[in-house]
Amino acid sequence: MLKTINVCIVGCGRISTLNSLGYLDHPDAKIYAVCDLDEEKAMEKAKEWGAEKIYSDYYEVLNDPNIDAVELLVPHHLHCSMTVKACEAGKHVSVQKPMALTIEEADQMVEAARKNKVKLKVYENFVSYPPYVKAKELIDAGEIGDPISIRIKLNAGKQDTGWEVTKDTWSWRMNEEICGGGPLVFDDGYHKFSLARYLMGDIEKVSAWIDRTDVIPGEFYEDAPAMIMWKYKNSKKYGIMDVTYSKDLHINTDYYACDERVEVTGSKGVLWITRCTAKMLQIPTLIVYRDGKTINYEDLRDDWADSFIDSTKNFIEAIKNDTEPLLNGEEGREVLKFALAAIESSKRKQEINIDQLFTPIKN
Ligand SMILES: NC(=O)c1ccc[n+]([C@@H]2O[C@H](COP(=O)([O-])OP(=O)(O)OC[C@H]3O[C@@H](n4cnc5c(N)ncnc54)[C@H](O)[C@@H]3O)[C@@H](O)[C@H]2O)c1
Repeated sequence: MLKTINVCIVGCGRISTLNSLGYLDHPDAKIYAVCDLDEEKAMEKAKEWGAEKIYSDYYEVLNDPNIDAVELLVPHHLHCSMTVKACEAGKHVSVQKPMALTIEEADQMVEAARKNKVKLKVYENFVSYPPYVKAKELIDAGEIGDPISIRIKLNAGKQDTGWEVTKDTWSWRMNEEICGGGPLVFDDGYHKFSLARYLMGDIEKVSAWIDRTDVIPGEFYEDAPAMIMWKYKNSKKYGIMDVTYSKDLHINTDYYACDERVEVTGSKGVLWITRCTAKMLQIPTLIVYRDGKTINYEDLRDDWADSFIDSTKNFIEAIKNDTEPLLNGEEGREVLKFALAAIESSKRKQEINIDQLFTPIKN
């Protein structure tokens, strides 16, 4: 009989609320341990999730032979070192997006997972959001003909609705050495760069303007408005991401005050997907237009939490069946290249060919 996969959740902050969901009641895995520098937080979460062990020192987690996998939910500057150490200790790793601050860090992570023969999943959950998964299925099946363009709208507003996000959770994102880039284009944007690749393929070049808006001067800023354009490899397919922060926009949400609207145009149809993080548009989350008809997909699971549950299940399946997780280290690295190239384009004020900026990964 298969042994239960014992997981340690490392970092019991804001997002752990959703990352825990897929483990609770899972027949093959359980939250065996929790770890946070803040022992009080760790104790509270251990109680909530029924974890047996509580740690405040990550090195003790790595020395616990009962732990099979770690779920890393910590600030970005820790992703690389914690991942590499976990791989060396023989633990499977699910690490939050963005996987790392630099490509050199991503390389170390990929190498550590390969060398130690453990699974490495970059936990970018948008590619597990059921309406996006269905959209990909339809695009791949030719429902809208050949896809030609994608438009991704990222709309952030005032965090006066949804869940509570503390100052501690926001503040490390204001430090580029910890966050790796700005809170919208680099941090949250990683989801959208990932989605653009997931739905339509590899990216050849990118051109971007990324501006900056102070929210609370000296304390909090957004890397927006931003316009990012790209061309897909070996094709006449293009994409654009439009990132807006609307300071007085009240967003209907259970989570962050941030919403998404996506449009994919093909040679014979168009597809719209909306409402991943929030609920601005009260319409079906997936709509397809073709042959003069509008098809509404009404019965898809479409809460943002569903994408977390499915992403966690994917990690468990990968460990259980010895398969590659969705967005393994190599794929996560491709998304990181795209994100970093967009930022570089804005800084240099020029178009960036991604493979010229970053060397391909060694095989
Ligand atoms: N998938 C998503 O949609 C999504 C959404 C939000 C955040 N995230 C990602 O999740 C991660 C955590 O973000 P958050 O918003 O929950 O942050 P947070 O600040 O709320 O939580 C981070 C936690 O990590 C703990 N921590 C820091 N250093 C540690 C260490 N050395 N050992 C153990 N614990 C340590 C902190 O005490 C804190 O409790 C980030 O990588 C972030 O980008 C992903």
